[in-house]
Amino acid sequence: MMVFYNGKILDLENVAVSPFDRAFQFGDGVYEVIRYYPKIFFEYESHLDRLKSSLKKIEISFTAFEDVESVLYELIQKNNLEDQLSIAYIQISRGNQFPRRHFYNENLEPSIFICVEKYPAKVNEMKNGVRVGLEEDIRWMRCDIKTTSLLPNVLSKQRAIKNGLAEIIWHRNGFITEGTQTNVCFIENSELITPPLSNLILPGITRGIVLRLCEKLGIRFTERDIKLSELNVFDEILLLSTTAEVTPVIELDGNIINGRVPGSICKSLQSEYQKLYNTENR
Ligand code: PDD
Repeated sequence: MMVFYNGKILDLENVAVSPFDRAFQFGDGVYEVIRYYPKIFFEYESHLDRLKSSLKKIEISFTAFEDVESVLYELIQKNNLEDQLSIAYIQISRGNQFPRRHFYNENLEPSIFICVEKYPAKVNEMKNGVRVGLEEDIRWMRCDIKTTSLLPNVLSKQRAIKNGLAEIIWHRNGFITEGTQTNVCFIENSELITPPLSNLILPGITRGIVLRLCEKLGIRFTERDIKLSELNVFDEILLLSTTAEVTPVIELDGNIINGRVPGSICKSLQSEYQKLYNTENR
C-alpha cells in the first residue's frame, strides 16, 4: 500500500513515525475523510476549507496545501483504485516534540499523512435503514474541530457495534447533538430539522450539501435545537456523513421509526445526492 508522509509517497512499510509525534501522544492533530467516487474527490474544496479551519482553531501553522490534491490522485493511481469507490484520510499533526510536555514548542514542523482505501458504498444500510442507540454526549466543548482526539467517539461506537447498532446519536443537556461519525436530522410534517452549527457539533460537509438540496427540492428546513423529549414525534430520522451519505434510521433507542421503512424525504435526498457525484463525474 502506497501512502504519503511528509512530502514523500512511500510504501507503508517504509513510513517511520516518531513516538514523539504529538498526535501519537496527545491526539494533537486534525484530520479529514474525503470520498473518492471514480474519478473525482467529492467536495474537495469544502474538505480543504474545513481542514484549514480546524488547523487554525488549534493553531497549527501548516501551509503546504498546494500538493495535497495531486497527491490524492497519485495515491489512487498508485494503489490501483481509479475505478473503485474509495476514501482518503488526511491527518496533520502538530509535529514531533521531545521531551514529552503538554505545552508545545511553537516552531514544530507539522507532520502530514495521507492514505487511500477502497471503501464500498453501504448499499444495504442506505436502502434499508439502520438501528441506532442514544447516549449522553461526554465530549469536550469544541466538537466543531475535526481533531484526532476521538476517544468518546471510539467508545460509543464500540458499544454500538457490540449491541448490533450502526451508530450512537448523542445528547447534551437534554438536546440532540450529533452521531459519533455523523450529523443527524429529523423530519416532521415534511420539514427537515437539524441542530444549528455551534461548538457542539462538527460542521459536516454532507449536512451542508443536504441543506442545499432541500432548497433545490423545495423541502422546508430549520436549524434549531432538538429536545430529547421530541424524539417520538418525528416521521423520519437521517444520518449524514461522507461515508453514510444519507442513511435512514429505522429504529432509535428501541423505538421504531416510520414502521421501519425509509421515508420519502430520505429517498428524494438520496437520489439528488447521488446525482451530484454522478454529474460531477461526467
Ligand atoms: N466523520 N460528525 C462527526 C463527529 C463526524 O466524525 C463526521 C464525519 C460527521 C459528518 O461530517 P462529513 O459530512 O463532513 O463527513 C459529523 C468522518 C467521515 C469519519 O471520521 O469517519
